[in-house]
Amino acid sequence: MTGKDDQVADVSQLTIGVLGGTGPQGKGLATRWAQAGMKVVLGSRSSERAESAAAEIVDQLGTGNITGADNASCAGQADVVLIAVPYDGHGSLLESLREQLTGKIVIDCVNPLGFDKQGPYPLRVEAGSAAQEAENLLPDSRVTAAFHHVSAVHLADVSGSEVDTDVLVLGDDRDATDVVRELAGKVAGMRGIYAGRLRNAGQVEALTANLIAINRRYKAHAGVRVTDVEA
Ligand SMILES: NC(=O)c1ccc[n+]([C@@H]2O[C@H](COP(=O)([O-])OP(=O)(O)OC[C@H]3O[C@@H](n4cnc5c(N)ncnc54)[C@H](OP(=O)(O)O)[C@@H]3O)[C@@H](O)[C@H]2O)c1
Repeated sequence: MTGKDDQVADVSQLTIGVLGGTGPQGKGLATRWAQAGMKVVLGSRSSERAESAAAEIVDQLGTGNITGADNASCAGQADVVLIAVPYDGHGSLLESLREQLTGKIVIDCVNPLGFDKQGPYPLRVEAGSAAQEAENLLPDSRVTAAFHHVSAVHLADVSGSEVDTDVLVLGDDRDATDVVRELAGKVAGMRGIYAGRLRNAGQVEALTANLIAINRRYKAHAGVRVTDVEA
């Protein structure tokens, strides 16, 4: 193995906000971070939906420092904010939260995909990727991209199972990508790997179409593993 990276960011005191935290992906990651003892705020267009999703997680785990709020309040309370809404709502949501997200690490996990008779395919995004679109919309935030290939089904299964996958982390701010790698590492079984600058996010988002095709053929919830790297 090569490439041991000794830098460790301390993320234990951070509050993680999850916009779109009522959906399977946001709720799943929130559950795993809460399970790891992190403070989490779920966001939604409806504070009631967010509160009820947070209560479900506490019920499921039997514990958890997790609350719900509307997306703006969630973004305002958090130190690091995961964007887990469909691509359709991505641009307008980020535009509306520019102020609350100023200075913060933003993690974009959005996969702009279409589906037709042949299955999933990547949508063309003018900015190059959803993550680059986020960076354009949030010039005063520290935008990263990660968690595109993590199965929400595996995240939801907290009955002792680890989430057996690597997480490709992209971004132009080294400290921000280190924080996101550590957040990935908080989930049992998961490992965060730096995978390049944000301009390379397009193919990472697009690779999800291949993973969905794999899942359909092999009846799986596949993730990715990077070989020969110790991180
Ligand atoms: N599901 C997966 O396995 C998976 C894996 C990797 C990455 N992702 C990515 O993660 C993101 C979320 O996936 P998901 O499956 O959790 O999606 P989802 O269930 O379709 O949406 C998540 C939440 O986003 C909110 N939302 C829906 N439409 C919105 C809009 N137009 N504007 C603002 N908020 C909106 C909804 O919450 P409220 O109604 O409560 O506001 C919804 O519960 C997607 O971009 C997807 O590509 C998903």
